[in-house]
Amino acid sequence: MGASAAVRAALVLAAAAFFLVAASGSAAGLPRFAEAPEYRNGDGCPARVAGAGVCDPSLVHISMTLDAHYLRGSMAAIYSLLKHASCPESLFFHFVAAEGGSAPPVAELRAAVAASFPSLRFEIYPFRADAVAGLISASVRAALEAPLNYARNFLADLLPRCVPRTIYLDSDVLAVDDVRRLWETRLPAAAVVAAPEYCHANFSRYFTEAFWSDPELGDRVFNGRRRAPCYFNTGVMVIDLRRWRLGNYRRRIELWMEMQKEKRIYELGSLPPFLLVFAGEVEAVDHRWNQHGLGGDNVLGSCRPLHKGPVSLMHWSGKGKPWDRLDAGRPCPLDHTWKSYDLYIGENDSASAPSRSALSSSAIPAAVFSW
Ligand SMILES: *[C@@H]1O[C@H](CO)[C@@H](O)[C@H](O)[C@H]1NC(C)=O
Ligand SMILES: *[C@@H]1O[C@H](CO)[C@@H](O)[C@H](O)[C@H]1NC(C)=O
Repeated sequence: MGASAAVRAALVLAAAAFFLVAASGSAAGLPRFAEAPEYRNGDGCPARVAGAGVCDPSLVHISMTLDAHYLRGSMAAIYSLLKHASCPESLFFHFVAAEGGSAPPVAELRAAVAASFPSLRFEIYPFRADAVAGLISASVRAALEAPLNYARNFLADLLPRCVPRTIYLDSDVLAVDDVRRLWETRLPAAAVVAAPEYCHANFSRYFTEAFWSDPELGDRVFNGRRRAPCYFNTGVMVIDLRRWRLGNYRRRIELWMEMQKEKRIYELGSLPPFLLVFAGEVEAVDHRWNQHGLGGDNVLGSCRPLHKGPVSLMHWSGKGKPWDRLDAGRPCPLDHTWKSYDLYIGENDSASAPSRSALSSSAIPAAVFSW
């Protein structure tokens, strides 16, 4: 081997070493999480259909987005869903993760989820921001413009065809009840989406004056709906995927997003186009399944109490997230409940892992919410 060949070989080795370091360096980009306590199906849970995989008809399908910024929320949400499920092994999670740009590689997210939930049944679907980027208009809060907020519009495209229905959940939720009860929501033939409705909320304020004063738009849009249009929150929805596909509902939502580009008809992000398509058509679900607004408003993120009535799912919608407020040393009273599901360890690989026992179920009040 000549001297130049040896130099070349050394350079190749050095380059390979650099890539390895770079790869492990980016792995340190995700926060670290502890392993959640083990969970098992109770007696009377449906038996797994051998070989059916994701098409097993006894599964409860949950869809969420997964990204670096909200990963801590997603982890707590998954943990809470498993902990309160009577048949936790029957839950199947469908995660949509942004691909490209500054997003962490899907393999890293997969490793993080598998490390905290070793027996979790899940799939991750990469989502390309450019699928929606051209359709997004500026809104009141930058976080509302993130392309991944629009991933819920694509569930029927991303999930396998054999999945008949899914529950979509935001990453800032906490279940305190068995999600199977929500899963079993009856959807009459005319309904594609079920969600808690809020008919006392002033529906007009979700759209601009330009919308309401346009004779082609305004009230006319909602004429002939099953019921009077009401606000509903898109952070918790039961979606019939077969009916969604048949009716091409993604396209219907996108048509409103295209109109928004021409003429400002709303101020918020991904919510108003959903309202335009589904308000007055959604099947109402008990309010206990979306105790929303715990993050305060979109500007201040101030503390908010639970609404009256029973609670099955808490939702920190709004600007204030429990993990941010806890880290800042200014938690709201309900953030302490969220904290008992927090698996977060730290930002650095060097941080020491807490012992398993520190996270054992005994550390978590078993019946914080027993109604
Ligand atoms: C609802 O909001 C609209 C627009 O902000 C306002 O004009 C109207 O007075 C409000 N209605 C009620 C009942 O508060
Ligand atoms: C984590 O890493 C950052 C940046 O490298 C550093 O500033 C911080 O002190 C580290 N924290 C811990 C707990 O090691």
